[in-house]
Amino acid sequence: MKAEINFICNNSEIEASVHPGLSLLDFLRKELRLTGTKEGCREGDCGACTILIGEYIGKDIIYHSVNSCLLPIGDVFGKHVVTIEGLNNNELNAVQKSFVEEGASQCGFCTPGFIVSLTGYFLSNKKFNVNHAIESMDGNVCRCTGHFSIIKAAQSSTKFLSKISSGKNHLNDLMKVGIIPEYFSSIKERLGELKQKTALTQTDSTIKFIIAGGTDLFVQKWEDILDGKVNLLSSNGISNLIKEENKKCIIGARASVTDLIESKIIRKYLPSLTEKLKLFGSLPIRNRATIGGNIINASPIADITSILLALNSTLYLKQKKTERTLPLKDLYKGYKKLDLKKDELIDRISFPLPAENSYFSFEKVSKRTYLDIASVNSSVYLEVDKNQITEIHLSAGGVAPIPLYLKYSSEFLLGKEISSENIHEAVNIALSEIAPISDVRGSKEYKALLLRQLIFAHFITLFPEKVNIKEIA
Ligand SMILES: Cc1cc2nc3c(=O)[nH]c(=O)nc-3n(C[C@H](O)[C@H](O)[C@H](O)COP(=O)(O)OP(=O)(O)OC[C@H]3O[C@@H](n4cnc5c(N)ncnc54)[C@H](O)[C@@H]3O)c2cc1C
Ligand code: FES
Ligand code: FES
Repeated sequence: MKAEINFICNNSEIEASVHPGLSLLDFLRKELRLTGTKEGCREGDCGACTILIGEYIGKDIIYHSVNSCLLPIGDVFGKHVVTIEGLNNNELNAVQKSFVEEGASQCGFCTPGFIVSLTGYFLSNKKFNVNHAIESMDGNVCRCTGHFSIIKAAQSSTKFLSKISSGKNHLNDLMKVGIIPEYFSSIKERLGELKQKTALTQTDSTIKFIIAGGTDLFVQKWEDILDGKVNLLSSNGISNLIKEENKKCIIGARASVTDLIESKIIRKYLPSLTEKLKLFGSLPIRNRATIGGNIINASPIADITSILLALNSTLYLKQKKTERTLPLKDLYKGYKKLDLKKDELIDRISFPLPAENSYFSFEKVSKRTYLDIASVNSSVYLEVDKNQITEIHLSAGGVAPIPLYLKYSSEFLLGKEISSENIHEAVNIALSEIAPISDVRGSKEYKALLLRQLIFAHFITLFPEKVNIKEIA
């Protein structure tokens, strides 16, 4: 399978006839010989392959950092790809100079990834904050310099830029101080022309792989993908919009975790999620990982699925011209076994907008706080009227072969008062609903203990005056 794809890479227009599922990393290194982008883990874990993707969002070009090892080339058609080679012309840019001055590079293998991530932060934000600049490199790992000097380089570049950036003409400001080269000013117009020239459609009954963000598929099957036909969800009409409609929140299945974090609706109705979702992967992963992919991958520890189970979500499943709805909690039939027909896609997901008297909590424990999947996660949504629970949905991940809706503990708590005694009993019921196994993420006993603690944590955090740690522990 080949497709005609064109995009701008740094300052050059690229036209290629390639398999749309080829990883951009391979195309950059092997075809374009842009070897500044490094191959480290090929699993989204090290950040050595980080690049920026610029695309029209509304009237502006917005840049995001992504892992090129997990990115199908078909998804960059009509976009601006920026590699480390595209960030300097004849001399080092200001961010690179700060790395040299702070001694933030030794073997240099990780350095392009760090520079690209940090430059991406300056490109996509008009006001700079040192902590956010450091966070923008959360997907980059250095194994020889030590992160302290890298943090110092981020601090000194942010300080330098905060002094000079007026924020009115952002691109010009960055170009003047040499953060990005001058060709960036021509990209908007050039991408506009490119967009009109091409259209990539991938619809076929012999499709072997459906790719959304690729952050699960490319880790496991990047070679197999090249053997068959692929359907890129970016080009077949599945939306990434998050909207409010008839007292429901509707999430296009192609919305990314970053879309969720940045959504005004999520911030308004579920404000605690904005910070908690930073525990999901790293920035480049969050920029690509989709909500639909998280659900269909059916990992028992999928974070977004845990959250959506507690929000009592419904799936809208499309197959050619037919559509059906399915409660998310009925999708999972066994380990990676789904109530999903061949060719059926999640088009969108909906959940009732949280009521005024509602509470929500998501908790996750993993071996590392950041850039790690959960050992156990759990979410709860509840509505309370005069201290009585009038609606409740509890979920748990990592304690069963599927992302688990805790049916019996939820049923037990419905209609009850919030008290240490009732929460204690609900935990006992939850522990009888689960079937954890021992693996690299912990023994089954440890996981059961974690779930107990996470359920306690929900209620102690949400109702500190009603639930007492000494009474329930
Ligand atoms: C480094 C790293 C860190 C990670 N950290 C986390 C984490 O902290 N928490 C977590 O939960 N996950 C994590 N993940 C896993 C992954 O990022 C998520 O599961 C992500 O949401 C998958 O979405 P995707 O769009 O990338 O899926 P893809 O890889 O594109 O697809 C996954 C599966 O879903 C199918 N699919 C995708 N969309 C649809 C649709 N609309 N309809 C039907 N089928 C569809 C695909 O065909 C494929 O079978 C991590 C992954 C990596 C590589
Ligand atoms: S090569 Fe490690 S994240 Fe891509
Ligand atoms: S400088 Fe060697 S891995 Fe970072």
